[in-house]
Amino acid sequence: MIWQRLTDRFYEEFGRDGQLRRFFTPGRVNLIGEHIDYNGGRVFPCALDIGTYAVVRPREDYVVRFVSTNMTFKNEVDISAIVYDKGDGWTNYPKGTIKMLQDHLTENGKDASVIKGMDIIYEGNIPNGSGLSSSASIEVLTAMIVNELWDLNLSMIDLVKLCQKGENTFNGVSSGIMDQFAVGMGKKDFAISLNTDTLAYDYVPCVLEDAVLIIGNTNKKRGLADSKYNERLAECRAALAEVQKVKAVNHLCDLSATEWQEVKQAVSEGILRNRAEHCVLENERVKEAIAVLQKNDLVRFGQLLNASHDSLRDLYDVTGIELDTMVEEARKINGVYGSRMTGAGFGGCTVSLVKKEAAEHFQKQVGAAYEAKTGLKPEFYLVNIGDGAREVK
Ligand code: GLA
Repeated sequence: MIWQRLTDRFYEEFGRDGQLRRFFTPGRVNLIGEHIDYNGGRVFPCALDIGTYAVVRPREDYVVRFVSTNMTFKNEVDISAIVYDKGDGWTNYPKGTIKMLQDHLTENGKDASVIKGMDIIYEGNIPNGSGLSSSASIEVLTAMIVNELWDLNLSMIDLVKLCQKGENTFNGVSSGIMDQFAVGMGKKDFAISLNTDTLAYDYVPCVLEDAVLIIGNTNKKRGLADSKYNERLAECRAALAEVQKVKAVNHLCDLSATEWQEVKQAVSEGILRNRAEHCVLENERVKEAIAVLQKNDLVRFGQLLNASHDSLRDLYDVTGIELDTMVEEARKINGVYGSRMTGAGFGGCTVSLVKKEAAEHFQKQVGAAYEAKTGLKPEFYLVNIGDGAREVK
């Protein structure tokens, strides 16, 4: 249905001729390992079965026409001179991606003009700005499309890296690699155990037996999230510099919990020490979470989810009243293994591991209690773990 609707709208916007192609890239949820993908840590995300859809047709010139059924703003861009322009709104994400691919070709002694224009229409069913990676989804989707239309022969991991670079250098958010990696490389029914330092990864079966993942959207707008995100990165860099005065490490997450106890006095008490402690211990939690999930120990897995949230609240300071309230209410429900914020924080979504039999009651009860306390109407999604970016034939 969605493809038919998108195709009809495509014809309306751009006319009927030529062959159309269809592509999909999911969103992601991070199960555990938060704010450590820019500290060399291990993360454990999975791709979702919701995401961003695109119908596209190549052009012979260097114009890209962007339309999204979710947004009123449309854009027409000359890709022989791509520059960031605040007024270009959401289209800065796909623009940044195309620019990164062009630059990559040029840097490798190739002709960037092989990338030509296209007419493209997007539709997403990931709630925007909710921490489920709607921006990484549109970036990786666009990268895959350009790669396919113009036979660039780049691997998905190359595309993922270029998308992260676009987010960092073109869109000004110093995010790690997790989101682009998860939406590009995800696999149905598996979570990805990703070492963000080396990019070595494994797929871990995510068999939840009697349980489901429930994503709770606080519907709190993530105001100033980007600047606070960059601030956390700066704090981690500062803490790392202090650690490096007493121990040779490349990343905060190179430290084990025991090594952290040995060096923590070298890190300024307060904010910097708290941030670093979160990173080290979160990384340890991820490793344990992966091990216990493989033994189907959902009880321990849930405890680790809870501990992750508490650390993000108390040491890393990225939760806020809405996420804390939703998590607190979730944990009161019988049948909840664990509940935490997911993604960057400062609003956005929680993820809870809930017994199937409690799922309905969970949504009603947490929804009512959350709304009563915050005045915001939440939304809940029972999501499945889906495949990564792909062309749909
Ligand atoms: C955002 C970033 C990711 C990651 C998370 C927090 O989603 O894009 O790289 O840092 O926040 O874990």
